[in-house]
Amino acid sequence: MKKILVAPSILSANFANLEKDIQMVEDAGADWLHIDVMDGHFVPNITIGPDIVKSIRKITNLFFDVHLMISEPQKYYQDFKKSGANLITFHNEVDINKKKLIQDIKTYNIKAGISIKPKTNISEIEDLLPYLDLVLVMTVEPGFGGQSFMDDMIGKIKDLKSIINKYKYNCLVEVDGGINNQTAIVCVNAGADVLVSGSYIFSSTNFKKSIESLTL
Ligand code: DX5
Ligand code: ZN
Repeated sequence: MKKILVAPSILSANFANLEKDIQMVEDAGADWLHIDVMDGHFVPNITIGPDIVKSIRKITNLFFDVHLMISEPQKYYQDFKKSGANLITFHNEVDINKKKLIQDIKTYNIKAGISIKPKTNISEIEDLLPYLDLVLVMTVEPGFGGQSFMDDMIGKIKDLKSIINKYKYNCLVEVDGGINNQTAIVCVNAGADVLVSGSYIFSSTNFKKSIESLTL
């Protein structure tokens, strides 16, 4: 059976004690660390910049999964790469040359992903699939942690996975938003390879148990 990766989202961590929370999820068996970058323009919230990524790079060896919810990813991806990102995912809904940005990110020998909001159809990214390492399917409207999973995204995950399998693309499917022990299994059955989970993990009293419960 393939290994399902768990990527705790630090958006729900205690920002006054980020080092402790990151070390705790690392010790608890997290595979990746999901870092939500918001600019107050693409989404109505402001979060983490490259300096914070650089600081936390020093305290963990976890794979940094950087989710850029920003209007101009082409201006900032190099800063996040320099700060220690291992994967940079930007949104399909930004008005830029996406194929070029994927290629530019990959010139740094890091992984490139694209994310689609709930209203965006897979047909809009199909042409990009051969170049992508990952597609991030948003299962809530991006902007905030702690929202409820949108059940109608399951069909999208299934359709995406079947296209990837059909053409044997080397592309992971990641889901993000409202992932808990109930919704995780539904997503994995639909074809998800990577589970982002913020509030479910960080609001629990036992990070190891909550991380394990996502892939049971
Ligand atoms: C929302 C972010 C998510 C968020 C998930 O825009 O992209 O990564 O942190 O949080 P939960 O798991 O609480 O829905
Ligand atoms: Zn995210």
